[in-house]
Amino acid sequence: MDKEATLTIGENSYPLHIVEGTESEKAIDISLLRKESKFITFDDGYGNTGSCESKVTFIDGDQGILRYRGYDIADLATRSNFLETSYLVMYGNLPTSAELDLFSERIAKFTQLPDEVVTAINSQPKNLHPMGVLAAGLHALGGAYPHLCTNDRKSDLESFDESAALIISTIRTIAATRHRFLLNEQVPEIDPTESYCKNFLTMMFAKESEPKEIPPSVTNALDLIFLLHADHEQNCSTSTCRMIASGGANPFASLAGGVSALWGPLHGGANMAVIKMLNQIHDAGDDGSRFIESAKQGKTRLMGFGHRVYRNYDPRAKILKAACDDALEALGVSSPILEIARRLEEEALKDSYFVERKLYPNVDFYSGIILQALGFPTDTFTVLFAIGRSPGWLAHWKEIAETGKKIHRPRQIYQGSPLRPYLPTGDR
Ligand code: CMC
Repeated sequence: MDKEATLTIGENSYPLHIVEGTESEKAIDISLLRKESKFITFDDGYGNTGSCESKVTFIDGDQGILRYRGYDIADLATRSNFLETSYLVMYGNLPTSAELDLFSERIAKFTQLPDEVVTAINSQPKNLHPMGVLAAGLHALGGAYPHLCTNDRKSDLESFDESAALIISTIRTIAATRHRFLLNEQVPEIDPTESYCKNFLTMMFAKESEPKEIPPSVTNALDLIFLLHADHEQNCSTSTCRMIASGGANPFASLAGGVSALWGPLHGGANMAVIKMLNQIHDAGDDGSRFIESAKQGKTRLMGFGHRVYRNYDPRAKILKAACDDALEALGVSSPILEIARRLEEEALKDSYFVERKLYPNVDFYSGIILQALGFPTDTFTVLFAIGRSPGWLAHWKEIAETGKKIHRPRQIYQGSPLRPYLPTGDR
């Protein structure tokens, strides 16, 4: 294929280099366009803008393909686990057993938070959403480990192994500390040799007065949810992380920014919004058809449906839909809203509004049903998304720190007032 495109503006032509990815994705490199022509490109919402070259994750939205570092998500979901996949996402290859042991030891070493971080978490306003607390907790965590948080790229890269393990491990503890604080309880001691998810569930829910064995089906369901969220290339929160990292900020600050970006209902907050929507439909005695009608009229959105990149079934949703039945059966929980979710999906997938716009269930459509069955309060669902996404954010921070040369700084088309003189208040 030709390696150059030509852009003609009026009488002038500009040759533009074509960049090709390893999966034959093609982009027109416009990085010199402004210098040569005074034009910039305009792409509201960045739907057609490649912001970087990355080696972490590949998505083919038309075919519903998702791969971390070349491994298909379905393969990883069946054969790997969250910690091994986290290593893969951050370091580029599946670990040898010695590498995995070392990584797991590092994670186990860092389960507790320094007292000053616990104080910072618990002194946030009572009504601050858990995502706000998580962002504050990550900033406080960086403050407690100043040698990991220098804003000197070389130094922060040298300590990446330590900061990555610290963050992936204690992001659970931040979530559990806040949850327990609101219940006037302490996070219990955990056994560091137990699995990542078992320890997290213990931190969140274990009661000394009612010791209960956590069934493997429960830890497996949570592990699967984390694994499926581990990375998703240049989404809103990951792009935010990369943007912050491009300015030279440390991993803690970059991830705190990612958490804030994830919070919104169009992004990670959708998993909470789906459950609220399903409950509303249930409480209104609607079989879903009235809700679908109002979504078609633009009065509301069918949460957990649609995706900027997938114009096909989100492969993560496919895996979670299957896992939902198994998890609920293993937990012995019946969920009336699962029935509503299934019916909504069935109706939407044959409705011309959704078909024409290629709107399919995304990862958030079924994850909340599992999380609810596992006992997580609805307003912690997006925190769980953030825990799962932490290795992805760290991988992108590392990629920027290792290869990024420029600060990220888009241009704009100014549509505001032309120059006007300042008038004193009496003359306005
Ligand atoms: N319900 C009803 N209509 C929808 C929906 C929906 N969930 N999503 C998109 N549309 C319609 C939209 O109104 C528009 O219609 P028209 O062309 O007539 O104006 C068309 O589909 C294209 O929508 P868009 O908003 O331009 O698409 P986008 O790529 O900018 O938005 C999205 C993607 C995910 C924000 C959007 O589909 C949405 O709001 N979905 C619901 C929220 C949600 O589930 N978010 C989680 C995304 S997956 C997890 C993650 O990675 O964050």
